[in-house]
Amino acid sequence: MSTNKKAIVTGGSRGIGRAIVKELVSRSGVLFSDVAFIYNRSDESAEELKREVQSPQTKILSIKSDAASFEQAESTVNKVVEELGGVDILINNAGITRDNLLLRMTEKDFDDVINTNLKSVFNYTKAVIKHMIKQRYGRIVNITSVVGLIGNPGQSNYAASKAGVIGFTKSMARELASRNITVNAVAPGYIETDMTNKLSDDQKKKLAEMIPLGRLGKPEDVAKVVGFLCSPEADYITGQVIAIDGGMTM
Ligand SMILES: NC(=O)c1ccc[n+]([C@@H]2O[C@H](COP(=O)([O-])OP(=O)(O)OC[C@H]3O[C@@H](n4cnc5c(N)ncnc54)[C@H](OP(=O)(O)O)[C@@H]3O)[C@@H](O)[C@H]2O)c1
Repeated sequence: MSTNKKAIVTGGSRGIGRAIVKELVSRSGVLFSDVAFIYNRSDESAEELKREVQSPQTKILSIKSDAASFEQAESTVNKVVEELGGVDILINNAGITRDNLLLRMTEKDFDDVINTNLKSVFNYTKAVIKHMIKQRYGRIVNITSVVGLIGNPGQSNYAASKAGVIGFTKSMARELASRNITVNAVAPGYIETDMTNKLSDDQKKKLAEMIPLGRLGKPEDVAKVVGFLCSPEADYITGQVIAIDGGMTM
């Protein structure tokens, strides 16, 4: 029987989630967890990641499932618990943008973003905590955004979803602390992934000028902090929101 921790990462096929999967499988070259990662559409990236991280000592599950669906989240968590033998770590990372000024934003743009970015966090957290409470151990990290802290024109749906994630994180941290389950959030600034690829080089250059550390972030910059929050070094940290933004929102 493996002594690795058992982790679930939603939205693990690409971008930040993909870097988190790699970090959780092996932290500084030391095997850390078996990982089930969830994705919605990108079969090819998921297959490629699975091939990349699989080893004889690690179990990797790649599951296609819509994180916005309550029923699918519940059945996915049950499948993971059955196949990995439990769940110790949950990373709520799945997210989308549907940007527009409010005058032009449709009801669907609003609902899709809230359901994928916020309701998914409820869905997965609710499905894992019964297992974590029973074993009196759990580490939950939610990926919010600096936009949830400071807002952004054209992203009212996204900002509302990410501010919601912060409120949910703090309430869960208080609700679950006595069961040795910590719940924290990280708030990335601008990170180079498909989500920010729509920005032109000129926009990226202007953004970098606003960031004290002078560059956009990399998925690994976020993944390392998430790995830390799941490690024994962070056992006494709960209810926190850590900005990973090169100093942009200080
Ligand atoms: N990039 C940034 O600058 C930035 C900044 C702050 C916060 N964030 C947050 O960080 C998280 C990851 O962002 P990213 O930049 O890595 O985005 P990304 O490159 O677009 O990747 C998003 C991931 O989420 C998955 N996903 C989307 N909808 C899903 C659903 N309904 N069910 C399951 N999986 C779903 C995608 O899988 P499929 O393609 O298969 O659907 C993909 O694996 C998001 O929560 C985002 O809001 C990003």
